[in-house]
Parts: sequence; structure tokens; C-alpha cells
Amino acid sequence: MNQFTPIILRWFAENGRSLPWRETRDPYAIWLSEVILQQTRIAQGMDYWQRFMRRWPTVELLAAATEDEVLREWQGLGYYSRARNLHTAAKQIVAMGGFPKDFDTIRTLKGVGDYTAAAIASIAFDQPHAVVDGNVYRVLARHFGIDTPINSTEGKKVFSALAQSLLPEKQASAFNQAMMDFGAIQCTPQSPRCIVCPLQETCDALHTGRTEKLPVKQRKTEVKTRRLIYIYIRCNGYTAIRKRPAGDIWQGLWEVYTQTLPPHSEGQAGEVILIRENVRHVLTHRILLADFYLWVTDERPPLPDDYIWVKEEELDKYAKPRLMERLLEALPA
Ligand code: ADE
Ligand code: SF4
Repeated sequence: MNQFTPIILRWFAENGRSLPWRETRDPYAIWLSEVILQQTRIAQGMDYWQRFMRRWPTVELLAAATEDEVLREWQGLGYYSRARNLHTAAKQIVAMGGFPKDFDTIRTLKGVGDYTAAAIASIAFDQPHAVVDGNVYRVLARHFGIDTPINSTEGKKVFSALAQSLLPEKQASAFNQAMMDFGAIQCTPQSPRCIVCPLQETCDALHTGRTEKLPVKQRKTEVKTRRLIYIYIRCNGYTAIRKRPAGDIWQGLWEVYTQTLPPHSEGQAGEVILIRENVRHVLTHRILLADFYLWVTDERPPLPDDYIWVKEEELDKYAKPRLMERLLEALPA
């Protein structure tokens, strides 16, 4: 008999976190929380969720915003495709005449994968779809002693089938959020709190001494390094920026002048100085190594067409990647 589910539900009733998006059944509010929490910790995500809800309390209002406004409100959270997708999906939802209620339609929204669709369908509409996130993989791998790599095709199948089989039909919302909280608070990645765990008796990893070995993850391909050169041009209170094009990192965000070769002072008006070298910036699939230069000149140099000249004091009106903020912080006054 499966004792796992009732034990988890009971643990959740006693230990579940109280979070603002758990006070509502509004699918828009729940969707927003799930998109924010995809790659952001709760403490930081909470702030952003509240700001978004205050500024755009309904999906109609979010859909009516401009992409720049949404990106700017998102600034600091990273993974900006989430913000662009959120905005696109808001417009999709409005075109549908309201928030879709079934898993398959929710799944068609931009940026909504299996995980997010299952979370919304279960939490907002109590439909029996099990979520499978990092917490769920860890709890299941340990408790049931499964060493299939969680990032393999086989692993994805095994763990989602298991999660689905444990899901109580009528308490999908509580079960899914119980798994998230149990993984975050009790069965943590490092030093799980086995001594006070209600699943002690049945936990395979605990009995076989494998809590540190499970879950198993396959090694991924190595992360490549990419060099970038940024030149902040200071020209009579103006600087040159451009919007990053599609098809690369930071689409839609603004950056200062960039070129592939280091600049040199000879034959160039004004003075070029190196202000930071080898600034490391880690992205999901790449490590960036950037050099920052400052070029002070009285004459505007000719630049490619996609650059515009803006007042230095108005730079904060433009949504920028974190690396650009680091450049601005490094600039001498
Ligand atoms: N992480 C992602 N979604 C969550 C939720 N609904 N509650 C807690 N943590 C989460
Ligand atoms: Fe996780 Fe330890 Fe509980 Fe097993 S006993 S479920 S490893 S916290």
C-alpha cells in the first residue's frame, strides 16, 4: 500500500510555506508565480511577483503593456526570454477570451512547458496533473531508490510516471505543492533532514546510505567561453547603445557599443582606456569573458546603423542585461 502520498500531504498541512500566490485561485496570478519561480528563488521572486501584480493586476492589462515595459519590470531576474514569452502569452490569453482551463490548451501558451502547465492546471483548476521539477526528482529518486539519470529520456519517463501514479486525483494542488515544499525544506539537496523525516521508515536512500548519491545526473557537454568587448563611448554627455537583435543572447535588451577587436588609441579621436578586464559572467550555456573600455571623445565616431545616441543620464530608462549594469558600475564618474 502506498503510504507515501498521505504522509506527504500530512507533512504539507503542517509544514507548507505560506506564500502570497497560494492565497488565490486566479490562474493569472498562479501562472505569473510559476514563470517567475522557474529560475528564481522564492525570496527574490516574491518581490517581483508583487510588483507585477500591482502594476498589471489582470492579464488584459499585462497584454496591453509594451514589451519594453515588461522587460524593464523584469530587469534583474535574468533569463529574459521568460519575460518576452510572458508578454506574448498574455496576448494569446486575451485573444482566447480568457485564461484556458485545460492542460492541453494551457500547454500551448508561449513559454509554458509540461512543468508549468501541470502546475497551473493543478493549482488553479485542481486537475490531476503531476508536476515534475528538481524537487520532485530528488524526493522520488531518494525515497524509491531510483538511480536512472534524471536528465535522460528514460529518467524523465520513469519519474513522471511515478509522480503521476502517486498523485491523489482530488488533491492535485496540495500534492504538487507538497512535493515542491518537501524538496525545498525537508529533503534538501545537501544534508537532507532525515532524522526528522516522516518518510524515514520507507526511504530507500536512507536505508542504503545513498542520500548523497541520489538523484543521479548525467554530465552535460562542456560550457563554452565567449569573449566580448564593450566600449562605453562618452561624447558630450551622450553614449551609443543598441538593442540586441533576435537569434542570440539578450534579445531585446540594450547594450553599449561592442566590437570584436580591442580598440586602440592611435588614429582615433579622444582617449580610450581599459576599465575592467576578463569580467566573468555565467549564462546557462556559456561563460562570457568581457573587457570594458571607456572612450572619451568630442566627436561622434561613425557607428553601425543599429546604434543610437542617448543621454548618459537617461540610460536607466533602457532594459539592460546584468553585464551592462556591471559595466556602468565600473565607469569612472
Ligand atoms: N516553485 C515553483 N512553483 C512553486 C510553488 N507553487 N510553490 C512553491 N515553490 C514553487
Ligand atoms: Fe529525503 Fe531523508 Fe526523508 Fe529520505 S529520509 S525522503 S532522503 S529527507
